[in-house]
Amino acid sequence: MALSFLLSCSAMLPLLRVSAYNTSAGCAIIRPPKDGGIRYRGLTQEQIRSVQVLPVDYEIEYICRGNRVIVGPKVRKCLPNGTWTDLSQRSRCLLMCPRVWTSLENGRVSSWPLGPPVEGTVLHYSCLPSFILMGRNSTQCNKMGKWDTPKPMIGTTKTQAHDEDMMKTQAGEDMMKT
Ligand SMILES: *[C@@H]1O[C@H](CO)[C@@H](O)[C@H](O)[C@H]1NC(C)=O
Ligand SMILES: *[C@@H]1O[C@H](CO)[C@@H](O)[C@H](O)[C@H]1NC(C)=O
Ligand SMILES: *[C@@H]1O[C@H](CO)[C@@H](O)[C@H](O)[C@H]1NC(C)=O
Repeated sequence: MALSFLLSCSAMLPLLRVSAYNTSAGCAIIRPPKDGGIRYRGLTQEQIRSVQVLPVDYEIEYICRGNRVIVGPKVRKCLPNGTWTDLSQRSRCLLMCPRVWTSLENGRVSSWPLGPPVEGTVLHYSCLPSFILMGRNSTQCNKMGKWDTPKPMIGTTKTQAHDEDMMKTQAGEDMMKT
């Protein structure tokens, strides 16, 4: 009975892994996000290993391994009713894609969602009047921390490009003559 309750509970809340304990004196410990850890302020290594319940108003802070960044709540505080703040919001440690993709000279980049360019972030590119976009107009950050398409480039309009081609051709001819 108790086991099936726990199982259905963890099936309903697979992301939060909230412990089923209720202690009016504090909050049961919670797990850090994948690829992350928890900073316990004011506790010794020994205490951290054995702690099961933390007092009301105690704050834990998530830290991410490597060059991952935290998305979602970074800090959670123990509330008087034995729960932690913002448990409905998931905290994740995600790799960031290169920021170079997030700006474009003579163009505009919009990011969805806003915030650091992590897994799932989609960028949309457009360019200022009289410029043309060369390449894909959108890209997405994958879970390896890589954008799925090369960064597009901005070119001049066709007439300007044509003029430049003409100049290059002439320059080429000049070089051939000499
Ligand atoms: C925990 O138990 C106390 C009484 O012991 C109760 O007032 C409180 O609502 C309970 N909290 C949760 C999260 O069930
Ligand atoms: C605990 O208290 C907070 C704020 O007072 C509230 O938002 C939350 O729903 C409560 N949770 C439970 C399980 O009672
Ligand atoms: C982006 O490019 C696709 C084709 O690759 C096109 O169908 C779409 O309309 C473009 N979107 C914008 C906002 O220009």
